[in-house]
Order: sequence, then structure tokens, then C-alpha cells
Amino acid sequence: MILVTGGAGFIGANFVLDWLAQSDEGLINLDKLTYAGNRENLAALAGDPRHIFVHGDIGDRQLTSRLLSQHQPRAIINFAAESHVDRSIHGPEDFIQTNIVGTFHLLEAVRGYWSSLRDDARQGFRFLHVSTDEVYGSLAREEAAFSETHRYEPNSPYSASKAASDHLVRAYHHTYGLPVLTTNCSNNYGPYHFPEKLIPLMIVNALAGKPLPVYGDGQQIRDWLYVRDHCSAIRRVLDAGRPGETYNVGGWNEKPNLEIVHTVCALLDELRPRADGKPYREQISYVTDRPGHDRRYAIDARKIERELGWKPAETFATGIRKTVQWYLENQDWVRNVQSGVYRAWVEKNYGARQP
Ligand code: NAD
Ligand code: TYD
Repeated sequence: MILVTGGAGFIGANFVLDWLAQSDEGLINLDKLTYAGNRENLAALAGDPRHIFVHGDIGDRQLTSRLLSQHQPRAIINFAAESHVDRSIHGPEDFIQTNIVGTFHLLEAVRGYWSSLRDDARQGFRFLHVSTDEVYGSLAREEAAFSETHRYEPNSPYSASKAASDHLVRAYHHTYGLPVLTTNCSNNYGPYHFPEKLIPLMIVNALAGKPLPVYGDGQQIRDWLYVRDHCSAIRRVLDAGRPGETYNVGGWNEKPNLEIVHTVCALLDELRPRADGKPYREQISYVTDRPGHDRRYAIDARKIERELGWKPAETFATGIRKTVQWYLENQDWVRNVQSGVYRAWVEKNYGARQP
């Protein structure tokens, strides 16, 4: 079996659901269930003996060591992280704890376990670390997209903490020979995306008749990847990636934020028109920019295509339509994640931003 961390979050839950839809290999899912972790994402797996959910912290070395020796996984996929840039600006400490210290403790537990394996199992073992394009910093408009050899230049507490974890993973390969793989992917979107991030926030606010807060001039560029394409890339890297290597994963969909918001509005105009017949884009409200806001991210995904034959299946047009439809069909999920804690975050992040 394999062990997945953070499998109750957005990407992790999509990965777990896809994995068990395609394979009978069991999976242990270790998740701390922070505000971003949601067992409802995994409701379809209730009673499925292939899915073992464990509520716990990647930084709890005793727990992870016990899970490893008990279940003897052949691979670990580390999704667990604090993942939201705006939260890292308001409070960086959790990011340091989970993304750096937590990853360190996980690596130590894995090193102990891996060293105790027999030769063939040691060789076949993989530790796949899921990271982000944000570790490379910000690109000017005319600069080439991030390749795997681009220098690390993280600008937010979030990206700095992910960069540190990437370095630790690299060092465990270089120093101890641990067979690691690292993936650095661009912005994901799709089902189960927590509505603190751009795309789900815009869908949820639009439907609730609330303002659509665009930071600064809305011309920052992100490179969007449909989450299930990301999951297929991770499976491919796990199967065929070369230990010690890094693979950039992107959707070839560079778009300015304002265009994303316009697209979401247009789809909602078509699929769920406003009662007053007016366009959703009237709800757009320009607000104070994010401090240190990276201007542009773009992924050069040619290495994973060339070496492993992976390409995204969705275009942005097909992926965003599926996403908007999913939110329209899963309004109960949306209501359930909008807890008091969520509302407190919205007040903290948006209350002080001037329209
Ligand atoms: P998320 O915030 O939706 O989910 C994170 C999950 O990790 C949650 O279920 C949470 O409960 C769990 N978790 C947090 N701290 C933990 C801890 N100490 N121990 C165990 N579990 C813990 O994040 P996501 O968007 O699904 O991102 C998953 C991974 O992908 C992260 O490592 C993130 O940095 C990376 N990534 C995300 C994106 C994106 O667009 N969302 C892009 C690039 C990379
Ligand atoms: P986000 O989804 O937070 O991802 P990241 O910061 O990791 O790229 O934000 C995507 C882009 O959208 C980013 O440029 C910030 C911008 N943004 C807004 O304009 N308004 C918002 O309310 C949010 C959450 C993000």
C-alpha cells in the first residue's frame, strides 16, 4: 500500500479518490484535519477497507514511525501543508511548523523505516514531495517560464516554507540516498477547492450576491492546472520518475486574474443567471493588493512530457466549466465548509481591504 499525507485537503482528496477509482492498492491517509482538511471530501469512501484514515500530524514522529512499521508502505506522497499565501502573511508560524518542521520529522521517520527495509524494498521505495511553482519567485512578462533548474527565489512566508521543505527533501536524497521525487506544480483548480482561493471564492461569492474581491489591478498571471490532471501527473512521476529528480507540472494556461474572474462570471451567467438578469461581473470590486504579490508564475512542463509522456487532458475551457458545474451541484458542501472559522477568516482578510 501507499501512505498519503494531507489527503483530506483539496488536492490530496482528489488524489485519494482518483487513486482508489483506478487501483485496488490500499492507502493510509494521514491528515491533521486543519481548517482545510475535510472528511466530507472522502465521504464516497465510507466503509471502503482500502482507505485507512488516520487523524494526526506529519510532525508526530512516533505516530508516523508506528504507521510505517505497521503498514509497510512502498511509497509516501506528501501533500500535507499549510497552503494559503494570504494566511501565511497574517500568521506565518503554522507554515514554518507544518511545512518545514513537520516535513523534517516526516523525513526522519521515513529514513528510519526505509533503512530497515530489505534491499529490493529499499530500492523500490519512493518518497514523493508535492511542492509549488511559487518557490521560484515571480517572473517578468517577457521571461521564460520556470524550468526545473530555475533558481529558488521565494517571496512569501508560504513559498519560503515550501522552498525550505524542498531543500530538506533534496538533502535527504543527496546525503542519505533516500529515493525522493519532487513535483512543483502551478495553481490547481477543480472540485473540493476550499473557498479561500481565487476560483472557488469567486464562484461562492458570486452566487451569494457578494463582492468579487480582485487584488490590485487584477493583472497578475497564474498558470492554471485542473486538479485531476495534477493527480495523473503525480501517479506518473511515482511510477516512472527518476529518484532525486524534480518535475514541473503545469497546465499551459497562463491567464491574468481578471480574465479568470470574467470567465467564472460568464459561465455563471449561462448556467445560473442572476435573478435580476444582470451580469455577475457587476459584483467585481477592486481591493487593496496583497503585500509582496508575485506578478507572474508560468510553468515549463516539457520535462515531464518528454521523459514521462505526461500531458494535461483538460484545457482551461473544459476544466473551468466542470469546476463551476461541480460547485453548482454541491451547494451543501459549500455551506458546510463555511463554518464560523471560515467567516472569521473572511473578515480578517477582506475586512481591512479598501474597495
Ligand atoms: P489544502 O490546504 O487544501 O490541504 C492541506 C491538507 O493538509 C489539509 O487536509 C490539512 O488538514 C492537512 N494538513 C495540514 N497540516 C498538516 C499536518 N501538520 N499534518 C497532517 N496533515 C496536515 O492544500 P492543497 O491545495 O490540497 O495542497 C496540497 C499540496 O500541494 C500542498 O503541499 C501545497 O503546497 C501543494 N500545492 C498546492 C497548489 C494549489 O494550487 N492548491 C499548487 C501547488 C502546490
Ligand atoms: P490564490 O488562489 O490565493 O493562489 P496563489 O496566491 O497561491 O497564486 O490566488 C490566485 C491569484 O488571485 C493571486 O494572484 C491572488 C489573487 N486573488 C485575488 O485577486 N482575490 C482574492 O480574493 C484571492 C483569494 C486571490
